[in-house]
Amino acid sequence: MSAKGRPEGELLPPGGKARSAKGAPVSAKGRPEGAPASPGATAQAARAAPPLLAATGLVKAFGGFRAVDDVAFEVAERQLTGIVGTNGAGKSTAFALVAGQLAPDAGSVTLGGDDITRLSPSARARRGLARTFQVPREFTHLTVRDNLLAAAPRTSGETLSSVFLQPRRVRAEEAAQAAIAERWLAFLNLAAVADLHAGKLSGGQKKLLELGRVLMLAPRLILLDEPFAGVNPVLIGEISARIRELNATEGIAFVIIEHNLEALKRLVSQLYVMDRGRVIAEGDPAAVLADARVQEAYMGGVI
Ligand SMILES: Nc1ncnc2c1ncn2[C@@H]1O[C@H](COP(=O)(O)OP(=O)(O)OP(=O)(O)O)[C@@H](O)[C@H]1O
Ligand SMILES: [Mg+2]
Repeated sequence: MSAKGRPEGELLPPGGKARSAKGAPVSAKGRPEGAPASPGATAQAARAAPPLLAATGLVKAFGGFRAVDDVAFEVAERQLTGIVGTNGAGKSTAFALVAGQLAPDAGSVTLGGDDITRLSPSARARRGLARTFQVPREFTHLTVRDNLLAAAPRTSGETLSSVFLQPRRVRAEEAAQAAIAERWLAFLNLAAVADLHAGKLSGGQKKLLELGRVLMLAPRLILLDEPFAGVNPVLIGEISARIRELNATEGIAFVIIEHNLEALKRLVSQLYVMDRGRVIAEGDPAAVLADARVQEAYMGGVI
């Protein structure tokens, strides 16, 4: 796997089967007079703005147990989306299906309209989809800075031949990645601890480091699995502020799994609620949380 640069079009039959987006085919009915009527123009219009992420009919069973059972969701460009649900509802499993750690038994995932259901996690990351894990996966014996560099996309320097044949290019790439790492360290308020072993960080700093590691991939969509778990309130505010800023200035969309409903509600514009493998409510966060079915699902559960 010596993928250098950003190889395009892996494994994908481009376009694949014509997807019908939620809106279904555009019908001729209602087209303004004089609008182009060729089938090509219609297809183009229908494909003009696919959602950034769309999951349809996702199913994942472990043995006979359906952890994810016919789940669908959609995320628009630049949207902040939350996923909540009691323990074991299937939230992290749904993330694994979207990010590619698990293969679904049924259903599909599209990114920017392209079917990515069969791509590896790293191929999805190269297309701009990155995730963090519920339990941080930092390299505890590497410094914070080196954790970021280790997460950077592969450089030509990782193929032995280019080290000898193109040393200048390798050095330039490494310098560019080092500069990007410094930028994220400063942005995440981790510059002061950049030389510490990552294992020494507090829970909240580890979450920031996880965010830094995925930022090295220059994503357009980040899936965060419980970014506030085990984090003190001050750092929850800090992480929320960084998410908002990344969203506003870099246009990065986020899907965030959280049990901290208060913090999540303040951050997202749409919310999905999962219960026993299924989505039981979706939409405006305040309205969704007031929904009777959601309240019932949460009774006695962990919020
Ligand atoms: N690899 C696996 N093998 C068997 N069962 C699994 C596996 N992964 C998850 N499960 C089960 O699937 C169900 C959903 O798990 P999942 O981790 O997706 O829940 P969750 O909504 O993320 O919960 P939590 O809020 O506790 O993190 C649980 O019952 C879990 O035990
Ligand atoms: Mg989970």
